[in-house]
Amino acid sequence: MHSIVSLISGRGSNFEAIYKAAQTKSWDVRFTGLIANQPEAKGLVFAKSVGIPTAVIDHRAYPSREAFDRALMQQIDAFSADLVVLAGFMRILTPGLIEHYEGRMMNIHPSLLPRFPGLHTHERALEAGDRVHGATVHFVSAGVDEGPIICQSEVPVLPTDTPSELAARVLKTEHQIYPLAVEWFIQGRLQITGNRVRVDPPELQYIPFP
Ligand code: GAR
Repeated sequence: MHSIVSLISGRGSNFEAIYKAAQTKSWDVRFTGLIANQPEAKGLVFAKSVGIPTAVIDHRAYPSREAFDRALMQQIDAFSADLVVLAGFMRILTPGLIEHYEGRMMNIHPSLLPRFPGLHTHERALEAGDRVHGATVHFVSAGVDEGPIICQSEVPVLPTDTPSELAARVLKTEHQIYPLAVEWFIQGRLQITGNRVRVDPPELQYIPFP
C-alpha cells in the first residue's frame, strides 16, 4: 500500500479530486497527511472532514527557506510518504528537499509547460494570444515548475475569455490529469529516463479537450 502526503497553500481542489478518485476506484493507498503553509488554507477543512491528519507549517515562522524546508521534510517523513503530491503549494523549494524526494514528488502547474512557468499563467496565455492552453503534471526537479512531464491537458482559449474563465476551464482538466498521474504512480507504471516519463504499458499522456 502506498502512502501519500499532500502539500497545499489554499483551496485544495486538486487534492480533493485525487482523494475522491482514490475512493471511487478503491486505490490501494493511504492518505497519511496533508500539510499547509497557510493556516487559513481551505483544503485543511476538507482533509479534516475525511479524517486525514493535517499540519500547518507557516513559512513566516522560519528565518530562511532552508529552515522552512527542513521543518517541512521532517513533517512529511513523520507522516510517511511514498509519494508527495504538491497540490497548489505556492512555495519555491530548496534543492535539498527536491533531492530528498526525487522521483516521488509530483506537482501540477496551470500551463502547458515549459510555456509559462511561475505565476499568472492564464493572464499570460491571454496576453500572448495563445489559442490553446492547459495544465501539466510533472515530477519535481530543481527549477521553478520544472521536471519530467507525466501528463498534460489541453483546452481552447476563446476570444471572449477572461483570466478567470480560462482558469476554470483549465482547472476542470487538472482534476482529471492529477488523479491519472497519481494512479499511474501507485500502479508502478511510471518510468523516468532523463527528462522523459513513459507509462508502461503505454497510454496517452495527454488529455485533449472533450
Ligand atoms: C491550481 O490551478 C494549480 O495548478 C496551481 O494552483 C492551483 C491550486 O488550486 N498551482 C500552481 O500554480 C503551482 N505553480 P487548488 O488549491 O484548488 O488545487
